[in-house]
Amino acid sequence: MTLNASASMTALYGRVRQVIPPIEWPAFTDDIEAILDLKQQRNAVILAHNYQTPEIFHCVADIVGDSLALARKAMTVEADVIVLAGVHFMAETAKLLNPGKTVLIPDTEAGCSLADSITPADVRLLRQRYPGIPIVTYVNTSAAVKAESDICCTSGNAKAVVEGLGVPQVIMLPDEYLAQNIATQTTVKIIAWKGHCEVHERFSPADIRQLREDHPGITVLAHPECPPAVVAEADFSGSTAAMSDYVGRQKSARVMLMTECSMSDNVAVEHPEVEFIRPCNLCPHMKRITLANIRAALELNRHVVTIDPEIAARARLSVERMLAV
Ligand code: 13P
Ligand code: SF4
Repeated sequence: MTLNASASMTALYGRVRQVIPPIEWPAFTDDIEAILDLKQQRNAVILAHNYQTPEIFHCVADIVGDSLALARKAMTVEADVIVLAGVHFMAETAKLLNPGKTVLIPDTEAGCSLADSITPADVRLLRQRYPGIPIVTYVNTSAAVKAESDICCTSGNAKAVVEGLGVPQVIMLPDEYLAQNIATQTTVKIIAWKGHCEVHERFSPADIRQLREDHPGITVLAHPECPPAVVAEADFSGSTAAMSDYVGRQKSARVMLMTECSMSDNVAVEHPEVEFIRPCNLCPHMKRITLANIRAALELNRHVVTIDPEIAARARLSVERMLAV
């Protein structure tokens, strides 16, 4: 390592020292240095979701955010290669919105229980059963499901998308809890599907009551993929980006984020003054992405995301309609 490289690695560690113990840091430095070099050689950028671990999120990512921000930013990437440090549907969305770029997903098994809960045939059946009712599809779905839909939404814009359609009733799929949570905020009637996020469905209102007993005065934030009874007991509910912004605005001394584990680490780096209580749940799909497989993705140009052109054309329309809201 040159003197300059060693100084920049020290500066990087300064950023994450609060969430990565000194004993673990040396295990990351070789991959981080290699990835920083490879990004230059390949003219690549790394987009990382808020659930990525801090050595990815804070040390190699160029663009970070929630699903909505990643989709918006993917559209304007000028680099040749996009590495999506997140799950497969996010990589597909990037490819839909910037089809000329090479989009790489470091592990093809990085899926999502919501995306797995519904097929294109299910959506076609729903359309037959509820003729004329628009289908709003969460971005946590395959491109093939998006292709059967009228418009997409994320947790960051679901209410605006549902209300923007100007109709009395919509089908919202596949997340039953997101649909039920949005239904409490609007007069639009929502027909839901039975999909759940395997990470957020595990939180319960009893968890919140216990937390408040153990940590009086704690601020509890819940992602809208949590069951409605959890959201009802929380102080705030919003997308991962909205939760992060809320922590910055409210300056609460102690916070619990009812969402994926790494989120608290990433927000803690930005707000070292806040104490995070972390009985959180891991997303096994997000955790498939590592520095080692990001490095391999860039070295070996793997795994290239491809979408059938006919499906891509229809799926892109659903995503673009959402971005126009
Ligand atoms: P956000 O859009 O809020 O980042 O959520 C994505 C996700 O997968 C939550 O589980
Ligand atoms: Fe899917 Fe839930 Fe993981 Fe998000 S946290 S990627 S919704 S399984």
